[in-house]
This record gives sequence, structure tokens and C-alpha cells, in this order.
Amino acid sequence: MYPPKRMLRTALLLASAALCPHLPARGAEPAGIEEILPSCLSCHGELGISSMPGVPSLAGQPDGFLQWQMVYFRSKNRKSDVMEPLAASLKDGQIRALGAYFAALAPPRPDQVPDPDPDPALSARGRQLTGTRRCTSCHGDAFDGAKAAARIAGQREDYLYKALTDYRDGRRVGGGVAAMPDAVFGMTSDDLTALAHFLSRFPNP
Ligand code: HEC
Ligand code: HEC
Repeated sequence: MYPPKRMLRTALLLASAALCPHLPARGAEPAGIEEILPSCLSCHGELGISSMPGVPSLAGQPDGFLQWQMVYFRSKNRKSDVMEPLAASLKDGQIRALGAYFAALAPPRPDQVPDPDPDPALSARGRQLTGTRRCTSCHGDAFDGAKAAARIAGQREDYLYKALTDYRDGRRVGGGVAAMPDAVFGMTSDDLTALAHFLSRFPNP
């Protein structure tokens, strides 16, 4: 499942470029996302906030996280019938520009998050699990993510559940340290339902 060395090196170079915005980009790749962006927005939402089942919101995700996911789709280390072919032709410069674009959009706000909570007991269970599994140690106290770790506050509930089951069942691996498969190891589907319910309603500021 691990990317070949050369790809990993490209991915690392990409990520380090993202973390050091003052370094000049290698080569002179133009941003060049004007033509592809409308297609991205048609699924991920005009403001990067998705109203389409199974499609994640991208607005306000950490730049590093977004870039890594596009690199994983492009190298087929992350599986998706939809995203793999779309990412296949993305150039490094486009991935950087797309990451910066979506990272700069405002994340889903409380008034865009499903409310009122139809099942507060389920939310309480989800909150408890984030404590026992130390989710905040990587995703932050506000679940807003950083670097390669996703913002999970206010993400679509159906998508969160899918992502968590993908990690648990080995369909998605994530970064080389396998942080997520470890984090959800041995959890039941009821546990993952509770986590998705709680996190999808966790308000972004
Ligand atoms: C036909 C609908 C569709 C289009 C068009 C589309 N996406 Fe996606 N995208 C998806 C779906 C569905 C997923 C979730 C894949 C999964 O199930 O893991 C996704 C996932 C992603 C992710 C990972 C987000 C996360 O939270 O893990 C990124 C980044 C992304 N897309 C960027 C883009 C970009 C950039 C474009 C335009 C080049 C684009 N997408 C076009 C449907 C779409
Ligand atoms: C050791 C650090 C770490 C811990 C602990 C951790 N995560 Fe993650 N999480 C990450 C990283 C890194 C990613 C991005 C992985 C990838 O590239 O697929 C991620 C991705 C995710 C995603 C996918 C988001 C998306 O948009 O695709 C979800 C959902 C998630 N984490 C939820 C959780 C929950 C819930 C917990 C606690 C049960 C948790 N995480 C614990 C580091 C961590």
C-alpha cells in the first residue's frame, strides 16, 4: 500500500513546499486552475461546502491535508472511482493552487451544520469516544485539523462515517504513520456512527 520511493519523495517535496510558502515553487508552473475549478465546485459546493451525499466539504481544510489527499488520489494510494481519474492529470502546481484555494474558504459554520441534534445521547457517546481515543491530540481541541490532519468539525455526517469505516476496514491508509487505522482500530460500527454524529455537529467558529 505504500507509495514507491520516488512518489513519496515527490509528495514530500510538495508537502514541504506547502509548509514553506516563501520558498519559490520549483519550475514556473502557472496556477492554471481556472478551467478545472468549476467542476470541483459542482460536487464539493460553490463555497467548498458540500450538500451532496458522500461528497466531503473542502472549505477551511488545512492546505497540507488537501494537497496530500490529491497526491494520494493521483498515485492511487487513496481509492475513489470519482477522484482517482480527476486527480490523475493534476500537475503539482495545480495541486498547490487548489489546496490554497480551498484552505482559504470559510469552514462550515454552525448555521450550515445539521441542527437541532435529533439524538443528543448519540452525540454524548461520540464526545466520550473522542476522549478515550485521543482524537484531539492530532485534530486539535476544536477538531479543526493542522498540517496533514483533517478538519473534522462540521464535516458531513455520512462522509465522516464512510471515512472512518474505510480506515477501520483497511480501505484507506492515510500517511505513512498509519495514524488513522490505529486510532479507530477495533471500533464497532455503532462507535463510528456516534463519532460521525458528534463531529458533524461540532461547530466551527
Ligand atoms: C463528481 C463529483 C466530484 C468532483 C467533480 C470532484 N470531486 Fe473531489 N471528491 C468527491 C468524492 C465523492 C470524494 C470522497 C471520496 C471518498 O469516498 O473517499 C472526494 C474527495 C475529495 C478530496 C478529499 C477530501 C477529504 O476530506 O478527504 C479532495 C481534496 C477533493 N475531492 C478535491 C477535488 C478537486 C480539487 C476537484 C476538482 C479537480 C474535485 N475534488 C472534483 C467527488 C468529486
Ligand atoms: C495520531 C494522530 C491522529 C489521531 C489520534 C486521530 N487522527 Fe484522524 N487523521 C489524522 C491524519 C494524519 C489524517 C489524514 C489521514 C489521511 O491522509 O488519510 C486524519 C484523517 C481523519 C479523517 C478523514 C477526514 C477526511 O476529510 O477525509 C477523519 C474522519 C478522522 N481523522 C477522524 C478522527 C477521529 C474520530 C479520531 C479519534 C477516534 C482521530 N481521527 C484520531 C491523524 C489522527
